[in-house]
Amino acid sequence: MAAERALAMATCTAPVNIAVIKYWGKRDTDLILPINSSLSVTLHQDQLKTTTTAAASRDFTEDRLWLNGKEVDVGHPRVQACLREVRRLARKRRGGSEDTAALSLSYKIHIASENNFPTAAGLASSAAGYACLVSALARLYGVEEELSEVARQGSGSACRSMFGGFVQWQRGERPDGTDSLALQVAPETHWPELRVLILVVSGEKKPMGSTVGMQTSVETSPLLKHRAEVVVPERLAQMMRHIRERDFEGFGQLAMRDSNQFHATCLDTFPPIFYLTDLSRHIIALAHRYNAHHGHTKVAYTFDAGPNAVIFALADTVAEFVEVVRRSFPPATNGDQFVRGLPVGSAALSEELVAAVVTEPVPGAVQYILHTKPGPGPQLVDDPSQHLLGADGLPRSRA
Ligand code: DP6
Repeated sequence: MAAERALAMATCTAPVNIAVIKYWGKRDTDLILPINSSLSVTLHQDQLKTTTTAAASRDFTEDRLWLNGKEVDVGHPRVQACLREVRRLARKRRGGSEDTAALSLSYKIHIASENNFPTAAGLASSAAGYACLVSALARLYGVEEELSEVARQGSGSACRSMFGGFVQWQRGERPDGTDSLALQVAPETHWPELRVLILVVSGEKKPMGSTVGMQTSVETSPLLKHRAEVVVPERLAQMMRHIRERDFEGFGQLAMRDSNQFHATCLDTFPPIFYLTDLSRHIIALAHRYNAHHGHTKVAYTFDAGPNAVIFALADTVAEFVEVVRRSFPPATNGDQFVRGLPVGSAALSEELVAAVVTEPVPGAVQYILHTKPGPGPQLVDDPSQHLLGADGLPRSRA
């Protein structure tokens, strides 16, 4: 009889995604089943990613979890749901037979997770976090089944981070959630010119979380009901077509309208929820002035349940629009770190453009811009030196 493995470890990375047809509202809060389907773009992990190491050992005496080096409660129901589901799939895969060469499912586990971006920046991290947790656990236990259904039970939007490129989360019909899954609509290579600019804004207090916010909307907003039943099904089909045809005009227009309608449902919630701020409205107006100046849709904004703006544009627009943002929100310091991520060329703005678009600059309002593009889904990290846990199962001290 082969000896049970004493210590096993797996490390994965996973991406952030940004929805262009928004998920807002659950029909089942335990299983995290949405009231409408949604569609997102997975962002590149060179700029934004979570890394997670999961380890199991017969020597561990309790389950433990560290986030960005700090130990947190592993008993969180959503973490427990992901653990339970991955173990269930592993058990099913083993067909009930006790494969002694396989990692014992009764061992305690240690998990360490880190983001390569400041959590404090308010960039959606729960999607990448749960997608990464599920990927690392699946790898640890040798599970290869469809995993978006498991990631969904960590955070709804996390199921979309299980794939790269353009991803649809189908709401599904079944009460048990087995058909509420993410599917890739097109890979990240499908639209090579598409770029994403994240405008990280300064000094906002943490707004109401999505989980609580969306439940109040479900209970009180008639607009949200109409959106889920009538508007989203039509928009989803349109958005798939725009993506398939790489039609930026159609894609951008619809992304802006859908972001605006999501925020309209927040205002229609009672008591109302406000995620858009004066600065968001300033950025929205700037994008519309910029598009009007050019006579077509060159940039498209979208906002989630927080103050940062996400802008879609084609590569040939990025340098000019970044300069417009720099003039509109002059950096507080010397501006060295104002643009991060993928390189941005320089652009000279015409006087007409400045006169038409750059009105009433607000110094320091945008902290920095992160330039990224669509990217792949979760990745396995092969190099053992990259594990976040050491051979003793504890977080490696970070330099
Ligand atoms: C506004 O996925 O964070 O970003 O399922 O409760 O964890 P839970 O909510 P979450 O909600 C994301 C809402 C959104 C829109 C979107 O990503 O589709």
